[in-house]
Amino acid sequence: MIIIKKINELRNELTIRRKAGKRIGLVPTMGYFHEGHLSLMDYARERSDVVVVSLFVNPAQFGPDEDLECYPRDFRQDEQMANERGVDIIFYPDKDEIYPDSFFTYVITEELSKVLCGTSRPIHFRGVTTIVAKLFNIVQPDIAVFGRKDAQQAIIIKKMVADLNFPVEIIVAPIIRESDGLAMSSRNIYLNPEERKQAPIIYQALQKAVEMVQRGELDAGSVEYTIRQQIETVPLARIEYIKIVRERDLSPVKAIEPGTFVAVAVFFGKTRLIDNVVLK
Ligand code: PAJ
Repeated sequence: MIIIKKINELRNELTIRRKAGKRIGLVPTMGYFHEGHLSLMDYARERSDVVVVSLFVNPAQFGPDEDLECYPRDFRQDEQMANERGVDIIFYPDKDEIYPDSFFTYVITEELSKVLCGTSRPIHFRGVTTIVAKLFNIVQPDIAVFGRKDAQQAIIIKKMVADLNFPVEIIVAPIIRESDGLAMSSRNIYLNPEERKQAPIIYQALQKAVEMVQRGELDAGSVEYTIRQQIETVPLARIEYIKIVRERDLSPVKAIEPGTFVAVAVFFGKTRLIDNVVLK
């Protein structure tokens, strides 16, 4: 495995491999790897010849009051985990390599970026689409793998790729969970022991919703209400949103139809957790 910090060096390296007929797979990350990240690397490994993992804590997707400064970082450990997982190249650029002094151009996927997480994080998805577009141009991968954990992010990236004709296939891999159901996240480390104990209520509530729909409940309001009640049984949870939306355009549904999922954001103390499940 090689570690590359410069765009030109990465381009040169990939040109050689592309000329040799190799398929390139990209896994964009912000590091502090857990099994969720590693599963994406496995997906890329199975579907491409050269696996590139980018590791960059992207300032453009953090709001002014968010956790950019204290976002967890451990490059040595990430390096070891990626190496064990058969990654070929880690692209680990400095901030100035990605955002030089005069950087003025952003990619915005309108509408989809304003709902769900976009309501409380107005510049977040602009930062995500901009860095992912840059990475697509830098790496020019055949495939790129994202996690369903960030469902809205994956949907927005697919839309950006379609709208802007990026020649890349997007693969969305399933959510990897802790044994008690909590979706793995680099941010779970922020939870104190009591918050960590209560956090699995999120997935339990989502499972209840899935069961309700399986039993025939189609009223989105009732399902949302049940999820809310469930989550509120733990004292430390503060719900930001519970939304049942269409996969296609993230628009809210009244009656649950094929292609709908429920997405939630819940605070435990200062830590904001997100999760989602497909309902139908
Ligand atoms: P990050 O939070 O590091 O996540 C990197 C990738 O791992 C994303 O595609 C995310 O959906 C996926 N992932 C995270 N937790 C997961 C889990 N429990 N199961 C499956 N996949 C999981 O998402 C970002 O970074 C950034 O926004 C990025 C796309 C890199 C742009 O900066």
